[in-house]
Amino acid sequence: MCGIVGILGREPVARHIVESLKRLEYRGYDSAGVATLEGGVITRRRAEGKLRNLEARLAEAPLAGLAGIGHTRWATHGKPTEVNAHPHASDGLAVVHNGIIENFRELRAELTAKGQTFTTETDTEVVAHLVGDFLRQGLSPREAVAATLPRLKGAFALAFLFEGHDDLLIGARQGAPLAVGHGEGEMYLGSDALALAPFTDTITYLEDGDWVALTRDSAEFRDVAGRLANRPRIKTQASAFLVDKGNHRHFMAKEIHEQPEVVGRTLAHYLDMSAGRVRLPFDLPVDPAAIDRISIVACGTAYLAGLTAKYWLERFARLPVEIDVASEFRYREAPMSRDGLTVVISQSGETADTLASLRYAKGQGQKTLAVVNVATSTIARECDVVAPTLAGPEIGVASTKAFTCQLAVLASLAIAIGRGRGAIAPETEARLVGDLIGVPGLMAEAMKRESQIASLSHHLSRASDVLYLGRGTAFPLALEGALKLKEISYIHAEGYAAGELKHGPIALIDENMPVIVIAPSDQWLEKTVSNVQEVAARGGRIVLIGDRKAADEAAVTLDGFVAMPDMAPEFAPMVYAVPVQMLAYHTAVTMGKDVDQPRNLAKSVTVE
Ligand code: G6P
Repeated sequence: MCGIVGILGREPVARHIVESLKRLEYRGYDSAGVATLEGGVITRRRAEGKLRNLEARLAEAPLAGLAGIGHTRWATHGKPTEVNAHPHASDGLAVVHNGIIENFRELRAELTAKGQTFTTETDTEVVAHLVGDFLRQGLSPREAVAATLPRLKGAFALAFLFEGHDDLLIGARQGAPLAVGHGEGEMYLGSDALALAPFTDTITYLEDGDWVALTRDSAEFRDVAGRLANRPRIKTQASAFLVDKGNHRHFMAKEIHEQPEVVGRTLAHYLDMSAGRVRLPFDLPVDPAAIDRISIVACGTAYLAGLTAKYWLERFARLPVEIDVASEFRYREAPMSRDGLTVVISQSGETADTLASLRYAKGQGQKTLAVVNVATSTIARECDVVAPTLAGPEIGVASTKAFTCQLAVLASLAIAIGRGRGAIAPETEARLVGDLIGVPGLMAEAMKRESQIASLSHHLSRASDVLYLGRGTAFPLALEGALKLKEISYIHAEGYAAGELKHGPIALIDENMPVIVIAPSDQWLEKTVSNVQEVAARGGRIVLIGDRKAADEAAVTLDGFVAMPDMAPEFAPMVYAVPVQMLAYHTAVTMGKDVDQPRNLAKSVTVE
């Protein structure tokens, strides 16, 4: 979602702020702005749309200040217009904000009653006026921020600049991430280490409730109670990572193609390949034999990885699994046993609903394990055990490589828990591990279907609705296929369990409706094939993703057939994810959509 950057520099900072904001573009945004202090006075430039519009504004009217803050805004309250874009400046200060101030209506009413006028539709503006109000009462900038923060409800991160204070930048964090970058006679603030990587590799993460006052050579951290706090400096790897697309047109294409490598790397972290066993790089926080169920909570694509894991855990570990989307789970008041296991899954490790669910589960006395891609994220820091996915930074908003790496971790976990419960014999484990080892090679094989998939996407791009069908572990993948297509092509798509076809969606089938059938050769193939025939009988346009056996058994005229390599069925979703992702990608490219930054979507959803 929104991105925050702040710099106390020794040369004009606006250009650096914009460069840094570009590294946060992947989070999703719809307007941007920057403010600097020039001769002690705040001057700002803002623009609707992409950062290039802001750059054009800055080229016409440059900013010369050596201290500044910048922002990419993903609209929550008020349209993505220039007026609503951050920084908000009034009362001698400027502020940028990520997240939601939940009690802004109340605060707005209070401030309006005091005679303040509001010029935007945002929740953020109350923060500027509240701090301004305290400044007018004679408080210093630090005191004014300290007095304001307890009045704000919600999950947010903030950065402030104050007129007349050329050597001061204040940052605050409650729920949404914020990091300080330490430079040589310079100081930085940013939503993540990636944004700060061009400037420094020495980072301090604010903890929840913290705020920090920065000068060019000091950083004073205070905790939620206002006490001085020592927060560790860490060296980040982010600087080593170049935000570039390599030879690909989009980050999403690059990330799809990286999958054999990163899934292989992730599997190598979890498997003892020569012994044919899973070797978890951590101790499980529970005794698998002593638990009677697992709860899984996540959002979006991560939820669909969890839904796939439900099949694996129930099958390999003979353990009941409850799974829910985090936005429902966090408020459901689900009773949970003490010392049970909750698994949360999140690429970013910052998704607000997933984080709240993790905290709920901990509050219920559950042990928590988080499958996360960003090792320094809040979820990674707050769970009992981190199960890392080694996908590397994922920039495309539509998750691809993080999904298959999550599957790699969850498959390994299911086998390990199965072994711990005595539910799978060593020979079975060795066979399953052998199958997993084969997955990256099969993914690479599946990539070879790309040009065929690209031509199929021309048909798909003309559809207004698309149905995805699958059974067993292909069912979550059908949901993921529909989600991917919606996200980046804006074509309405639905995923269904193939067996549910008769209970409603079959009514939609006609000669205009493409039906993507995901049919690996597994124990459900025969049944899926019957569903294919039902679609064919009603004139539906079928695209089959399956192996030769599936095509032979279907024995109907197909609009398209994506021939997949033969493989053992258990981990087919990891391999079949490749054509499913490519189909969405090429359809969106054919339609000329902004694949990496689709409209309205954010990569890291730090608000409810
Ligand atoms: C957003 C992203 C999705 C992602 C979901 C969960 O909706 O656009 O790609 O699956 O959030 O994010 P997380 O970082 O928790 O996996």
